[in-house]
Amino acid sequence: EKGGYEHFMLKEIFEQPRSILDSMRGRLELGGSHLNMAGFRAYEQKFVNAQRIIIVACGTSWHAGLVAEYLIEDLARLPVEVEYASEFRYRNPVISERDIVIAISQSGETADTLAALELAKSKGATIFGICNVVGSSIARATDAGAYTHAGPEIGVASTKAFTAQVTVLTLLAMCIGQRRGTIPETKLRELTAELHNIPTKVEKALELDTEIRQISEIFKDVPNFLYLGRGYNFPVALEGALKLKEISYIHAEGYPAAEMKHGPIALIDENMPVVVIATKDSSYEKVVSNIQEVKARKGRIIAVVTEGDTVIPAMAEFVIEVPHTSEILMPLVSVVPLQLLSYHIAVLRGCNVDQPRNLAKSVTVE
Ligand code: M6R
Repeated sequence: EKGGYEHFMLKEIFEQPRSILDSMRGRLELGGSHLNMAGFRAYEQKFVNAQRIIIVACGTSWHAGLVAEYLIEDLARLPVEVEYASEFRYRNPVISERDIVIAISQSGETADTLAALELAKSKGATIFGICNVVGSSIARATDAGAYTHAGPEIGVASTKAFTAQVTVLTLLAMCIGQRRGTIPETKLRELTAELHNIPTKVEKALELDTEIRQISEIFKDVPNFLYLGRGYNFPVALEGALKLKEISYIHAEGYPAAEMKHGPIALIDENMPVVVIATKDSSYEKVVSNIQEVKARKGRIIAVVTEGDTVIPAMAEFVIEVPHTSEILMPLVSVVPLQLLSYHIAVLRGCNVDQPRNLAKSVTVE
């Protein structure tokens, strides 16, 4: 049932071109700008009049929420707050009827996320769910929502569920922006066209597998890793670090690249691998300076760059080239090599990647 793959995690990583497509299917018109999300349509007016969106989630789903914060603020010009469900539910949060709470959960059974949305519901907020498991507790507790349609995810480390969540959240941000009149029609068309190209670009990123395995051989015995990214790639840095921690038991930290100099830079020496997601986008030049700062302290740079980049390859020890895409869609592509990196390192260390120690697929107790 692993489809010829050694582990479910690897199978699920490789399913992403397909699962991303499935998460868009029927929702996006090819060549046009017509978006069709049933769950959104029913609550359209609420989204138009909303004063704020609060996203509640845990773990990887929380990282998808962070990407959504950038997406919704960029495309729909609505303020977004992203909350750990466990913190939100216990801190007497200020919530009103004009707030929309988006609960993101692969399993739909995460206890803290469920409790957070129940709390928000009791205060009159509208609850929108982004779940993968159909008919799950969270899906049933929401007013409306959109399923991610990624198919069953068996590996404890979430991979295809993340990219499906980000895809659906992108479509949602586009829907809200279109209804609020905050996205020019041309931009919407451009994004729609580029979204259709994403499965092929993810396919290309998967071709990096052998190369990433070779890099993994070199770093498999290190005790620490640092992951850096800015803008849309900042949540990707967090996600890359979480994947590595979960399945390889190597300590890893994800950081916004510019925050490095406020502390973590002290950790950098010739033994510290630093994964920098440095694709061509609006913060590219700044990330290049951050790479220089790491290099000056002899950190070992593994850079994820856009195909054809000539600047960073001259600076980094290892370069992983991903296809170019729009800045706001880049997490869907740039996360793929990080999933593969954590997978190969974990396998080389002899870890049980599908069922890492101390972890369960869904955390149904708080
Ligand atoms: O099922 P959920 O999306 O609600 O799960 C949330 C987290 O428990 C989950 O993402 C966890 O962090 C994963 N093991 C990450 O790979």
